[in-house]
Amino acid sequence: MRSLTDLDPDVYDSIDDIETPAVLVDLDVMERNMRDYASFADEQGIGLRSHVKTHKIPDLAHLQNEMTGGDGILCQTLSEVEVMAQNGIDDIYLSYMVVEESKLDRLIRVSEKLDEFTTTVDTPGNIHPLQEAAARRDAVVDVILEFDLGLNRVGAPTVEDAVEMAALIEELPNLNFAGVMAYEAHVALSAESKEDFERLCAEAMDQTAEWIDRIETETGVSVDEVKVGGTSTSKFSGKHDVVTEINPGMYPFNDVGELNRRDFEIGKEDCAVTVLTTAISSPVEERTVVDAGSKSISMDIDGLDPVPKHRDDISYENASEEHGYVDTSEGTLDAGERVEFITPHVCTTINLHDTLVGHRDGVVEEVWEVQARGKVK
Ligand SMILES: Cc1ncc(COP(=O)(O)O)c(C=O)c1O
Repeated sequence: MRSLTDLDPDVYDSIDDIETPAVLVDLDVMERNMRDYASFADEQGIGLRSHVKTHKIPDLAHLQNEMTGGDGILCQTLSEVEVMAQNGIDDIYLSYMVVEESKLDRLIRVSEKLDEFTTTVDTPGNIHPLQEAAARRDAVVDVILEFDLGLNRVGAPTVEDAVEMAALIEELPNLNFAGVMAYEAHVALSAESKEDFERLCAEAMDQTAEWIDRIETETGVSVDEVKVGGTSTSKFSGKHDVVTEINPGMYPFNDVGELNRRDFEIGKEDCAVTVLTTAISSPVEERTVVDAGSKSISMDIDGLDPVPKHRDDISYENASEEHGYVDTSEGTLDAGERVEFITPHVCTTINLHDTLVGHRDGVVEEVWEVQARGKVK
């Protein structure tokens, strides 16, 4: 008999019978999206390294790695790296800076277990501590220098800074300069059409090429790896000659953010992940409440609400923690009825749940534990 703490569905259950709220993955759609990006990368002759911060599930990381012919994965936290390494992934790029001494010791130790490991730096404040940690264990660490092309987050902010950092990395004995990462997500914040994406990504990649040229001519360092791209920009930036690898994360799943950004090429049918909810009360004609509020569907992006996947006559209006307010002035939704919502932001929604339920044609095929959930250190 099932224990009281085991609320997961079983393989072969119908999704009509599983308890809600539950995060569902339509496996046909997910696999189609994965194949789409993998064949794009193949056609361009570049790598596709998948960002697994989106789902934090080693089995899915393996699947993505297989679909790309072993291009490896990216993680955003060191403890994600540790979970992936413990589960047999052997090629990991950490797209994040680590500076604390104890964490750096963990970083060097995990890197020693992997076939390939690369980490990220951008300023002396994270370059020197990494050099010291590597020296403590007599290791040599492959590093990627991050450029800031306009996101204004991290990364060398000017070409002069980038040249200076490349020269510094080159002269440190325990660091190996492996290349650069130019995450051009600022493009997605301003692009409003396919033409905008094409132009702004091309400009960002031209800038990347110029900075690389300056690094190579002024320091003599060779820039072998050029990592770029999220889900919305990868297929534009990846056409530029300078790129060796794209790094999208959300591409297997999509979400409302992606739908809004790229309505010219994707629709609801391309969104693989939904949160399945049940209506629990319909107190007045124009309002029904479902069992998924902000603790089940992340609402971390201003102005983005969940979107019903299969209905256009109702809309998700507002949330408290366990209650989702649905506007039913145009359609009906009675207590007990179920609705699947596409999530505003898929990465932060998956991070709220213990499991992800993969189904094909409504029959449960996979129940994945979100193993690196909470692994933020
Ligand atoms: C450095 C870096 N690369 C790639 C990605 C993947 O982008 P997306 O989630 O839009 O696919 C992220 C996501 O935040 C990122 O921070």
